Amino acid sequence: MPRELIYNAFLHLTPNHHSHGFWRTEEGKVQYGYTKLQPYVDVVKTLERGRIDTLFIADVVGVYDLDFGTGDATIRAGSQFPEPDPVTIVSALGLVTEHLGIAVTSNLIQSHPFTFARQLSSLDHFTDGRVAWNIVTSYLSNGFRNYGYDDIVAHDDRYEWAQEYIDVAYKLWEHSWEDGAVLHDAATNRFFDPEKIHTIDHEGARYSVQGPHIVEPSPQRTPVLFQAGNSPAGREFAVRNAEVTFLPSATPEAARRDIAVLDELARARGRDPKSLKKIVTLSTVIGATEEEAKRKQKHLRDNVDYEALRAFLSGGSGIDLSGIDPSTTLNELKDRAELSDHVRSGFRAAADADYGDGHDVTFGDYLATHALLPGRFAGTPDQIADEVERWADAGVDGFNVVPVTTLGWWDEWVDQVVPVLQARGLAQREYAPGTFREKLFRHGDALPEEHYAHSLGLGAAAARG
Ligand SMILES: Cc1cc2nc3c(=O)[nH]c(=O)nc-3n(C[C@H](O)[C@H](O)[C@H](O)COP(=O)(O)O)c2cc1C
Repeated sequence: MPRELIYNAFLHLTPNHHSHGFWRTEEGKVQYGYTKLQPYVDVVKTLERGRIDTLFIADVVGVYDLDFGTGDATIRAGSQFPEPDPVTIVSALGLVTEHLGIAVTSNLIQSHPFTFARQLSSLDHFTDGRVAWNIVTSYLSNGFRNYGYDDIVAHDDRYEWAQEYIDVAYKLWEHSWEDGAVLHDAATNRFFDPEKIHTIDHEGARYSVQGPHIVEPSPQRTPVLFQAGNSPAGREFAVRNAEVTFLPSATPEAARRDIAVLDELARARGRDPKSLKKIVTLSTVIGATEEEAKRKQKHLRDNVDYEALRAFLSGGSGIDLSGIDPSTTLNELKDRAELSDHVRSGFRAAADADYGDGHDVTFGDYLATHALLPGRFAGTPDQIADEVERWADAGVDGFNVVPVTTLGWWDEWVDQVVPVLQARGLAQREYAPGTFREKLFRHGDALPEEHYAHSLGLGAAAARG
């Protein structure tokens, strides 16, 4: 069933994003260039050649340091460490591309919302309206300690904090400058019309921001909003704010259920479910034949650095997983009080996986699945297109494509898989014109009228909508 699907290229400016240990192989050496600009320029040119919708740059602001209580394993392996700042690369990549959306991850703690709103407005100008923000609440305690907090803030409190953070940004982006404030009128000696530029006077639990916004409205005003929230609080946040959200679903059947839950929540909160695009992770190993794909997948598996992988999962889940026996079932683990919400929801989603033999999924299975994240599906371009179609039939709006290596790998996807997807009507052949939001939704450059951001006003009384 041909439908319009969106494709993100998932990148991280770091030696190892999800292929922990692969840097030691011949193909993995490409990652040594992670601090250079040119390899990323090459990637985005390839992505545009393949009519990929979005470059999606992940980010964390600390070390995964929980495994046996230290960061040694992830530091040794270069697993999501070090982390050059992704905001710094956006202008450069915008200059060498014309259509690609550029989604950048930024969390609550790393910058004040006034600074951040200013940066994103600037980038939206400099890219002619192609910027998106992946809103994250941050899960690394070391990240919080890097910014002066004693430890990570409790899960749901982070979402409450995120709402105030984004409220400040909405007020600056959407409400501080009225349309028509930019005059360029030499006859009346007014570059701008001060009557149409307002302070926001935000006074909330964490922020006090006077304004006005000090960048004029950019093509999209608010960047396109991405978010991945899997918990009840995360889903509420997504339904209120996000335009694109990532589903945790491990199978198309799970995606069907996850979409129904989100759509129902959206309707209950008065939002058109279609205005929130739901996308899933797609990680593949590509072969000209099935045999070649399986051989490449084995090569990937043979080179996994399991210590680094477990340390990465420990940091991401907030729990030191080094003490868990691999034979423990996820059904035993998924409700354990000592685990964080984040790890419990991950375990719950994975516990549903069907291995075809009726056996309960174990922690060992879970590690192996994660180990193969960049190669969870190994097949020929045609088989990958079949897989894409299965997910599309379950109702997903698109894919977050996880590469084997951040650098280099994209030529394989674009040269081998994209033509097959295009021929089957599963991927666009040309970009639509306009800003990133217009390309994705075809309803103009701005957030839709019914979006929550428009319900906020100016002044202290309107600090929370
Ligand atoms: C595709 C995807 C990309 C993500 N990227 C980041 C990231 O770059 N940085 C980050 O701190 N968290 C990232 N996350 C984690 C989410 O922000 C969030 O913490 C996670 O989905 C758990 O949400 P929950 O606490 O509501 O269950 C990502 C999650 C997904 C599924």
